[in-house]
Order: sequence, then structure tokens, then C-alpha cells
Amino acid sequence: MSSSQRGFTLWFTGLSGSGKTTVSRIVERELRQRGLKVEPLDGDIVRQGLTRDLGFSKEDRDKNIERVTFVAKLLTRNGVAVLCSFISPYRAQRQISREEIGEFIEVYVECSVEECAARDVKGLYAKALAGQIPNFTGVSDPYEAPEHPEIVIRTAQETPEESAAIILGYLEQNGYI
Ligand SMILES: Nc1ncnc2c1ncn2[C@@H]1O[C@H](COP(=O)(O)OP(=O)(O)O)[C@@H](O)[C@H]1O
Ligand SMILES: [Mg+2]
Repeated sequence: MSSSQRGFTLWFTGLSGSGKTTVSRIVERELRQRGLKVEPLDGDIVRQGLTRDLGFSKEDRDKNIERVTFVAKLLTRNGVAVLCSFISPYRAQRQISREEIGEFIEVYVECSVEECAARDVKGLYAKALAGQIPNFTGVSDPYEAPEHPEIVIRTAQETPEESAAIILGYLEQNGYI
């Protein structure tokens, strides 16, 4: 079964603190339990290595996603389930990723700026709202929500487990797992 695994990339996009990492970790665990080869690519980790030379200007954000897309493409075509968790705020860049990767499943992690700021997982919203972080998505930088994502999860209304179940349901219904 796993030798004929069909590769795909689940692309989580959403504001900082919306729940990309939290939900993708649950999905990762579930996919591994089913015997799939899984590779998570998470913004916070990728930015410490592969793209540590990049900042948060539009140009650098696009470069960040461009490099990640290259890696996701290689893995996807080798039958891996790739879980990409990146704010990836620009619609046009996500469209390029979609075209490059092919088996691309966009997961819009929907959560208001107000809710993300109330969670403030990393304490960044407080600083951004105080004007101390330029280019902070949702506060001092744009976020372009997906217009036609394959999946929408609403993390202010769902538990992380419920959000993960929606994603797994989509993968089952569409023959990915
Ligand atoms: N339904 C939900 N899905 C995901 N995260 C949730 C949900 N409800 C509450 N949370 C909380 O929101 C925060 C999301 O943080 P994180 O996953 O690091 O976001 P991101 O990776 O998008 O920056 C966590 O503290 C998590 O416990
Ligand atoms: Mg994260």
C-alpha cells in the first residue's frame, strides 16, 4: 500500500497563531498511523535553516515560499504526504506553488486577527499592535485569503481534533488515503 502511495501536499495558509502548526501535527500523526510517508515543512523551522537569510518583505516572503515549493514538489512527486505550514500571505505566490506542485490541497486556516491576537501564542501581536513590528501579517502587512481553497477550517469554532478530522475526511473522500 505505502509503496503505491500517491503524493500530495497539504498547504496550510493563515495568520500567525491561526493554528497551522497545531492542526498539521495532528494530521501528521494520523497519516503516520496509517503507514504513510509524511514530511512536515513548517515555517518556523524552515526559516531557521533553508531560508534563514530571508526576512519578511514581500520579495523575501515570496522567495521563502518559492524554495519551500521546490522541496515540496520533489517530495510530492516521490509519493510523500507533505504538510506545509506557512503564513504564505500572497495569493499569487500560492497559485505558483499550486501549479508547481500539482497535487496541491490548499487548507485555509481561518481565524480572525482579533482571535489570533487574543491567543498571542508567541507574544508577537502585542508588539505588532504597539507598532514595534513592521511587516507583521494581519496587522502591518497584508494577508490575502484564499478564494477557492480545497478545505477551510475555522479554528475559533472547532477544536484542533475537529479541524484535523475535516482534513482527513477530505483526503479519504478524494482517494488520497
Ligand atoms: N481549533 C484549533 N485549531 C488549532 N489551534 C487552536 C484551535 N483552537 C485553539 N487553538 C490554539 O491556537 C494556537 C495556534 O497556534 P499555532 O498552531 O502555533 O499557529 P500557527 O502555526 O498558525 O502560527 C495554539 O495555542 C492552539 O492551542
Ligand atoms: Mg506555526
